[in-house]
Amino acid sequence: MKRICTVVGARPQFIKAASITRSLRNLQEDGSGYFEEVLIHTGQHYDDNLSEQFFKELDLPAPRRHLGIGSGTHGQQTGAMLTAIEAALDSEAPDLVIVFGDTNSTLAGALAAAKMLIPVAHVEAGLRSFNRAMPEEINRIISDHVSDLLFCPSDVAVKNLADEGIKSKVSNVGDVMLDVLLSQLDVARNERSWLAKFDVEEDQFVLATLHRAGNTESRARLGDIIEGLRLVAQRAYPVIVPLHPRTASKIQEFQMDTQPLRIVEPLPYSALLSLEASAKCVVTDSGGMQKEAYWLGTPCVTVRDETEWVETIESGWNQLAAAEPRSIYSAVTQFVAPPHRPDLYGDGTAGDRIAAILKGELGEN
Ligand code: UD1
Repeated sequence: MKRICTVVGARPQFIKAASITRSLRNLQEDGSGYFEEVLIHTGQHYDDNLSEQFFKELDLPAPRRHLGIGSGTHGQQTGAMLTAIEAALDSEAPDLVIVFGDTNSTLAGALAAAKMLIPVAHVEAGLRSFNRAMPEEINRIISDHVSDLLFCPSDVAVKNLADEGIKSKVSNVGDVMLDVLLSQLDVARNERSWLAKFDVEEDQFVLATLHRAGNTESRARLGDIIEGLRLVAQRAYPVIVPLHPRTASKIQEFQMDTQPLRIVEPLPYSALLSLEASAKCVVTDSGGMQKEAYWLGTPCVTVRDETEWVETIESGWNQLAAAEPRSIYSAVTQFVAPPHRPDLYGDGTAGDRIAAILKGELGEN
């Protein structure tokens, strides 16, 4: 049996891992008993509503190794992860390591494995914002360059890698987040209890999330974004904000007035999807939510200067807005959704494609 160690640590990685875990399990159910998957949780996200809840909801196996790293500066967090992941890999002796996306957990997992000469598969490879001030961009570039198998969600991502000289073992498999979204689509579209809970009506509210360091560290920038959301809430639609703990602590530190925003705790995945599907518009700086809004046919305003998910912008369903109150207000209230929504980022079978490629690469048991 081939042993795969999957390194996760932050909320979006639990969602992405759900697709791969299911596909690896399915291969086993074919009778081949091919893979044993061992989950390593770095502990980057440790609050129940950012971590434990997703394991339950997405039926993920409990991590065999929980490294309990927690918060810190980038150096502290990544350094502690490197040491602990190396020790975990040493005892697990996997045939391959899988990492997802662009967090410090991704970087530490890829780097630790590569130095131990364990093959690394990077899921969501090739994404670029071309903004090296983002910690995620540094994590992506390094993770891609030390990985052996690169699983991209789009042709643009494949081209980004080719432009950096990475051409071998690169596949466009589509996006694993679409696999997971499709498996929850009925819940997303039919579950009305969250609308009732927040006392909002279909198409008559805005759903907003905010967590990037670039948007939350500076008092002025965070203040302008909150002001933009408040303008929307005062003049147009109620705004529900499931708040990331990073942003919550900054709002508290800066003593910002958030009335009349409806600030709530981070939500379960199914609740978030259901609100995304019903919202008039999503306002976010999350990568995952830009894609989810697109797949669900909800206009998205991205409060960033650039995005990796350029296809959503080209389609007209996603717009960048400056971190400035009037820009956010106008983008939300004047958004005109285009008539067409072409398929983007694959067909929802990325996990199966990845599992099949891994089986081919790792050879017979
Ligand atoms: C991280 C990723 C980002 C990803 C995001 C998803 C990096 C550099 N960034 O950002 O790419 O989109 O996760 O959410 O890896 N905190 C808690 N409880 C938690 C987790 C975090 O209170 O369970 C607080 C801590 O104060 C911490 C801060 O949030 O210092 C930031 O957490 P961190 O893991 O550094 O990055 P995220 O902002 O979550």
